[in-house]
Amino acid sequence: MKHLLIVFHSQSGNTARMAQAALEGADEERDTVETRLVRAGDAGLDDLLWADAVLFGTPENFGFMSGMLKDFFDRTYYAARGRIRKLPYAVLVSAGNDGTGAVRQIERIARGYPLHKVAEPVIATSGVTEEMRSADPEGSRTAITEAQLAHARELGQTLAAGLACGIF
Ligand SMILES: Cc1cc2nc3c(=O)[nH]c(=O)nc-3n(C[C@H](O)[C@H](O)[C@H](O)COP(=O)(O)O)c2cc1C
Repeated sequence: MKHLLIVFHSQSGNTARMAQAALEGADEERDTVETRLVRAGDAGLDDLLWADAVLFGTPENFGFMSGMLKDFFDRTYYAARGRIRKLPYAVLVSAGNDGTGAVRQIERIARGYPLHKVAEPVIATSGVTEEMRSADPEGSRTAITEAQLAHARELGQTLAAGLACGIF
């Protein structure tokens, strides 16, 4: 069996739904690929050592990845050095109106980790801008769409299929 790790953080549930969709997509390859879905705060070195590929999921917060996913990188960076081979990875981002800042940071960290990108990121935006959010902090949070979830599902399946076929 090959192992796919999905590490994600989610505050209001959007990234969690994307990560769950990715898990469902990866499950298409369940005969050859086992997938582990773990919240970033609960994930650690053992998960990385177990993994043959990793899918990172995060909301974009203030133009960054979430603090919890950054914390996962911070906690595992030195511990993983020399102990993991260059793992294939991809990224899921849920954002109000952008998402590129989170992707850029993960890609930068990945270069030194070492991780190597095997698929383009899936960024799901809700169209909620910071101005809208400050005017109405509790409201106007558009739910993630079925089409966006389908992209997340596809990304999970792509990673699992790549592992199953030995492409990565
Ligand atoms: C503190 C905070 C900061 C945010 N900053 C950004 C941002 O910089 N860019 C953006 O596009 N969306 C931003 N958003 C919107 C979230 O990325 C968006 O609501 C996302 O869907 C949340 O994902 P989650 O439900 O998985 O927590 C921010 C939200 C919060 C709560």
